[in-house]
Amino acid sequence: MWLSLGIIFSLGTLIPGKFSLKLQHDRDQVLHIVPETIQQVQHLQLLCSTFMLDLWKPLLPEDIRAGEDLHIRVPAPLVQEVKDSLAQHMISYRVLIPDVQKLVDQSMPREKSSHRQVSGGYIYTEYHPMEEIYQWMTQIQKNNSELVTQHILGKTFENRTMYYLQISQPSNKTKKIIWMDCGIHAREWISPAFCQWFVKEILQNYKTDPKISRFLENLDFYVLPVLNIDGYIYSWEKDRLWRKSRSPYENGTCYGTDLNRNFNSSWGSVGVSFNCSSDVFCGLGPESEPETRAVAQFIKNKKSDILCYLTIHSYGQLILTPYGSTTKPPSNNEELMQVAKEAAAALKGKYGTSYRVGSTALILYSNSGSSRDWAHTIGIPLSYTFELRDTGTHGFVLPADQIQPTCEETMLAVTTIIDYVDKKYFTNGDVVLTSSSLGLSLCLSIVVLTWSAS
Ligand SMILES: *[C@@H]1O[C@H](CO)[C@@H](O)[C@H](O)[C@H]1NC(C)=O
Ligand SMILES: *[C@@H]1O[C@H](CO)[C@@H](O)[C@H](O)[C@H]1NC(C)=O
Ligand SMILES: *[C@@H]1O[C@H](CO)[C@@H](O)[C@H](O)[C@H]1NC(C)=O
Ligand SMILES: *[C@@H]1O[C@H](CO)[C@@H](O)[C@H](O)[C@H]1NC(C)=O
Ligand SMILES: *[C@@H]1O[C@H](CO)[C@@H](O)[C@H](O)[C@H]1NC(C)=O
Ligand SMILES: *[C@@H]1O[C@H](CO)[C@@H](O)[C@H](O)[C@H]1NC(C)=O
Repeated sequence: MWLSLGIIFSLGTLIPGKFSLKLQHDRDQVLHIVPETIQQVQHLQLLCSTFMLDLWKPLLPEDIRAGEDLHIRVPAPLVQEVKDSLAQHMISYRVLIPDVQKLVDQSMPREKSSHRQVSGGYIYTEYHPMEEIYQWMTQIQKNNSELVTQHILGKTFENRTMYYLQISQPSNKTKKIIWMDCGIHAREWISPAFCQWFVKEILQNYKTDPKISRFLENLDFYVLPVLNIDGYIYSWEKDRLWRKSRSPYENGTCYGTDLNRNFNSSWGSVGVSFNCSSDVFCGLGPESEPETRAVAQFIKNKKSDILCYLTIHSYGQLILTPYGSTTKPPSNNEELMQVAKEAAAALKGKYGTSYRVGSTALILYSNSGSSRDWAHTIGIPLSYTFELRDTGTHGFVLPADQIQPTCEETMLAVTTIIDYVDKKYFTNGDVVLTSSSLGLSLCLSIVVLTWSAS
């Protein structure tokens, strides 16, 4: 009797529940290493490739550099072997995360939403599976029908509908657009959490906060809460640390494209892999993926109205400016840097969290095909990637109790950018002529004239 009860009980706890992801990363460790010499760098590159270790920072073995942080996840069965090898080569390391599974478990909501939602409304301080985010979108639209509409953007590879929310105050005025997308990388759960938080904040405060009501007189917000829906669902149901989309390659022997390497900006030139097993596989061509095409088509159609493109990621605490594939700065680099610095300062004012600001190529590593770079090259003046908390202590598995502080501080950075856009392009509610392109071509023609005259 006791025995059979015991068996039933343990079976009950072992059968994987929908969101349990039991034991998948049990005792996996994340190591922090700062290689000191070229020899150490070479050994680490070899080690990462041989064991196919999951690089968290940087993402590619060739981007490992002496004097710079390296974060790698080592699967439990390899931990001892990898540590022995490091010791043999006199490479010192620190265990950043002693048990990845523990963090994964902590970031999962304890109960299903039907249980959680009975008391009070939507819980913004937990991570939500896609099914709940779909319901949230429907509800938020119903509950705020005077301001919010839900629209279809496209379909994912697995035929799921991609929706964006449009927050727009009815008016006959010509308005401009702020675009924000979240969840292009599946495992960066804090990102969709921020998009939801952002929408909530705007809706809760637009009547009482004069700044937000001013924004809404001039600007519409377009928010795509989860770009990579297939990947996000996979990260909930199969592998918490999945990054890419879910399109199959080579007869299903490998899956997924890094959608943030798939846009049409120097596609495939740097910081990518053409091997579909890689986490930075850039796809078969620019916009080869349905998710990328859906976003790119939409943005292209609206590009003359979009003043600002924001894409939210984790981790690293960075605000990244264009470009990633070249160190040549964009023409409005000073403006991009100035606004980002102000945003980072506002963010820091809340909880003291420090962000670095700069172009990917200069402060992180080079990459190509990112949505941020692409958006800027097609003419959207302000284009930023946010890499939210933290700097590696929890990495991609940021505990749920950091959702609120992370979103609060990020909100300050984002509203700083929006405020800049609003003030630059609108005064007294009128559109200020966007003279920068005109000015530039005037300057150029003067330069050409003087040059040909001399
Ligand atoms: C919408 O309103 C209902 C009724 O007030 C509430 O229970 C629900 O939590 C709201 N949903 C969202 C997403 O705000
Ligand atoms: C998506 O839908 C199309 C058209 O109905 C179908 O041909 C295709 O096989 C579906 N793809 C997947 C992955 O289910
Ligand atoms: C827009 O203009 C029309 C016609 O002038 C007017 O009837 C309508 O009330 C206006 N809508 C808003 C939201 O101001
Ligand atoms: C996929 O499978 C087909 C049929 O089995 C085979 O002809 C083809 O070479 C395979 N392609 C790859 C890339 O493995
Ligand atoms: C990518 O951009 C180039 C020009 O910059 C253009 O010729 C090409 O058609 C674009 N490709 C796609 C898939 O949009
Ligand atoms: C792609 O990468 C995997 C894993 O590193 C490796 O086993 C495979 O041989 C690579 N394929 C090609 C075509 O290089």
